[in-house]
Amino acid sequence: MSIFGGTGEHFGLDIGANHIRLVELSHAGSKYALKAYAQAPVPAGVAQSDSKLDLQKLAKIISELAHHAGINTKNVVSAIPGTSVFNATVKLPPMSQSELEKAITYQAEQNIPLKIDEVKFDYQILSEDPTTKELTVMIIAATKTKVNQLLELLTYAELNVVALETSTVAMARSLAMPSVPLAMILDIGSTTTEIAVIEGGNLIQTRSFPLAGYGMTRAIAQNLGLETDQAEQFKQRFGLSQDKLEGQVYKVLEPILKNILDEAIRSAKFYQEQSGKKIERVILTGGSSRLPQITEYIKTYMGVEISYGNPWSNVSYKTADSDKLNQMAPEFATAVGLAMRG
Ligand SMILES: Nc1ncnc2c1ncn2[C@@H]1O[C@H](COP(=O)(O)OP(=O)(O)OP(=O)(O)O)[C@@H](O)[C@H]1O
Ligand SMILES: [Mg+2]
Repeated sequence: MSIFGGTGEHFGLDIGANHIRLVELSHAGSKYALKAYAQAPVPAGVAQSDSKLDLQKLAKIISELAHHAGINTKNVVSAIPGTSVFNATVKLPPMSQSELEKAITYQAEQNIPLKIDEVKFDYQILSEDPTTKELTVMIIAATKTKVNQLLELLTYAELNVVALETSTVAMARSLAMPSVPLAMILDIGSTTTEIAVIEGGNLIQTRSFPLAGYGMTRAIAQNLGLETDQAEQFKQRFGLSQDKLEGQVYKVLEPILKNILDEAIRSAKFYQEQSGKKIERVILTGGSSRLPQITEYIKTYMGVEISYGNPWSNVSYKTADSDKLNQMAPEFATAVGLAMRG
C-alpha cells in the first residue's frame, strides 16, 4: 500500500521525532541481506517544525547520514507519520477494476474526515469472501500538505522518492512472525504510539495517537519537579518498578501507560467484533518499549502474550554486527520494513 510510487532499488528512511534511521538491504527471493544502516538524533523540535530552515536542517542530517552509512542509491522509501494519516476499512460487493476505483473514491469521501481534494489516498484489498466475493478494503489517506512537506524535505536531501507509505505498513512487513498469524504491533516511540493488527503478515487495522515517551518524561519532570534530562534518566532507570524511589516514578507513568494500553484494548475489541477472532499476542517495539517492567505490566493489564519485535529476523548480516543490531532492534522496525518494500 503506497500513497504513490513504484518499486526498485532503494533504501528505507524512518524520520522519527527523536531519531532518523535508515536501512539498505539487498534482496534475493524472500531473503534479505543488510547492506547499510545508520541512525542520528534529531535536534529537539526540528522533526515537528514546518519552517523551511528546519526542513533544510533535517535534510542535511539525512543526506550526511546516508553518505556516511555508504548508501549508494538516491532512491528512497519513507513513511508519512501515522498521526497525519486517516484510514477506513470498508466492505464492497464484487465489481470490475474501474468500478472499484470509483467506489473507493466515493467511500473515501464518505469515510475520511477531510475534503477529498485536500488528501492523497490509496487502498489495499485486505480480503475477499470466498462465497459472496465481497471485498474488504482498507482506504488510507494523507493530507496533501503533509505529503508535500515530506516531498519537499526529501528534495532538499537530493533524494528520489520511490514511494511513501505509513510506518505500520512497514512494521507489518518487518515484524510479522510466521508462527503467530494474528498479532497486534504496539510501537511506543517518542511522540507517537502506533497500533497495528496484523494477520498473516498483512496489515488489517491501524491507528496512531500522539502519546508516547516524551509525554512520560514530561509528566515525571512536572510531577517530581525535575529537569527534563533528569526525568529522562529516572524514567529509563526506574520505569514501572513499584519498589524504586517509593514508587514515585511508577505512580506518574502508570496512568500514561494505561491510556496507551486502553487504546490498544479498544483496537483489539473492535477487531474481535468485526472478525470474531481474539488477539492473544502483542509484538512490542519502539524506544519506549525499553521501559523497565513494561512487558510484565502489559501482560497483566491486557491479558496477552508479549514478544519484543525483531526486525532483523529475516535479514542476514555479518556476525560482528550482531550485538549492535540486536541492541537497536526495538527502534529499527520501521526503517527495516521500508527497506523491505518490494
Ligand atoms: N530505556 C528506556 N526506557 C524508557 N524509555 C526509553 C528508553 N530508551 C529510550 N526510551 C524512549 O524512547 C523514545 C524514543 O523512541 P523511538 O526512537 O522509537 O522514537 P522515534 O521513532 O524517534 O519517535 P516517533 O516514532 O514518536 O516519531 C524516547 O521518548 C525515549 O525516552
Ligand atoms: Mg518511530
